Amino acid sequence: MDIKINFSGRSLRYTEEEIDVVVEAMRNAETLTQGRYRDEFERKFASYQEVPPGTCFAVTNGCAALEMSAQLCRFKPGDEIVIPSHTFTASCYPYIKKGARPVWADIDPHTRVATAESIEKRITPHTRAVVVVHLYGYAADMPEITRLCKERGIILIEDAAQAIGAEVGGRKAGSFGDMSIFSFHSHKNLTTLGEGGMLYVKDKAAAAVIPALRHNGHCDYAFARQDYWKPAMGNVAVPRFEGEKLMPNNFCLGEVECALGAKMLDRIDSINDEKRARALHFIDSLRGFPELEFHRVADRRHNYHLLAARMTAGPRKRDAFMRAMLADKGIKCVVQYIPLDRYDFYRELGFGEADCPNADAFFDSMISFPFQHWLSEADLDYMLQATRDVMTTLR
Ligand SMILES: Cc1ncc(COP(=O)(O)O)c(C=O)c1O
Repeated sequence: MDIKINFSGRSLRYTEEEIDVVVEAMRNAETLTQGRYRDEFERKFASYQEVPPGTCFAVTNGCAALEMSAQLCRFKPGDEIVIPSHTFTASCYPYIKKGARPVWADIDPHTRVATAESIEKRITPHTRAVVVVHLYGYAADMPEITRLCKERGIILIEDAAQAIGAEVGGRKAGSFGDMSIFSFHSHKNLTTLGEGGMLYVKDKAAAAVIPALRHNGHCDYAFARQDYWKPAMGNVAVPRFEGEKLMPNNFCLGEVECALGAKMLDRIDSINDEKRARALHFIDSLRGFPELEFHRVADRRHNYHLLAARMTAGPRKRDAFMRAMLADKGIKCVVQYIPLDRYDFYRELGFGEADCPNADAFFDSMISFPFQHWLSEADLDYMLQATRDVMTTLR
């Protein structure tokens, strides 16, 4: 059967106003990178997050933000970082690149994210940092996790790649940790033309390092130049944090993307609210099929970036469901986030050991439904009826 509803690589359609902003920036931006649109995006993002100005930095993507957060951790040999095994690979490997050893935390079987309890179990005297991932768009229990990390002097990083706009107790995901990262990749609820990201750094001294760390180590001269072209057009210096030398990158996001990101902040809450309303309708309409277990959250704690369910009847039923949805109904569901310890990549690097039964059990029976924002009401009705039909046949 032809595919009727794909698990699309694109999350949303832009409005005419958003397209106009892009065209305006294409026409008029005085520089195409590192200009006023970047400044505006960062200012607006900080204000949206309700964090101080000067703490948010636009970058090429979420992975680049993770790379710089890993640099600021300044790992020493033997340092460990606690990370949920059930996440996207970019949540982890930047920390390995910078010398940390990942230690896998389990997830809560209901919320599918790590908890203060599951993280605490993995803390040792070698734990330098913890990465919390607000996976699927659901904000983890940040007040508890923040308390845990603060008490022990552990660096807390929030991977909010999927969770823009999600809130815990009225506070935005990504505003609790020492650092946090966001992704504006093509799949995400806010995308800046396919790639983009943001890094939040709470500590002022650490934040002061980011401009040079993000852009080739560029900085001003410490003296006033007589001729602006001497000794060179621009200076470079080794970025330093607390006396330690860090190697710079070029992780700058272009002006057109920044212009669009700033504009899209006006719409992100309504995109999230629309996705949540649709998710709740879908979940509630399938109450007659308790074998499909969703995570139902009626408030802003979940932005429903993704719509995931667990087939309580087990992996074989899950596979039969996925096959029938594609073959009989033309709907492509997917299975996401194999626990990282099960990838050959991590096994080869010596990180294949984990004790995360909830993550394993969830992954083995999970289904991720196509849930891009641009699906029509008719598409959603069709997917709902198709799910009912296939579930009834499988009973
Ligand atoms: C949980 C998570 N972390 C990190 C990333 C990396 O973001 P990016 O693709 O923008 O590099 C992604 C998304 O792609 C993600 O879903």
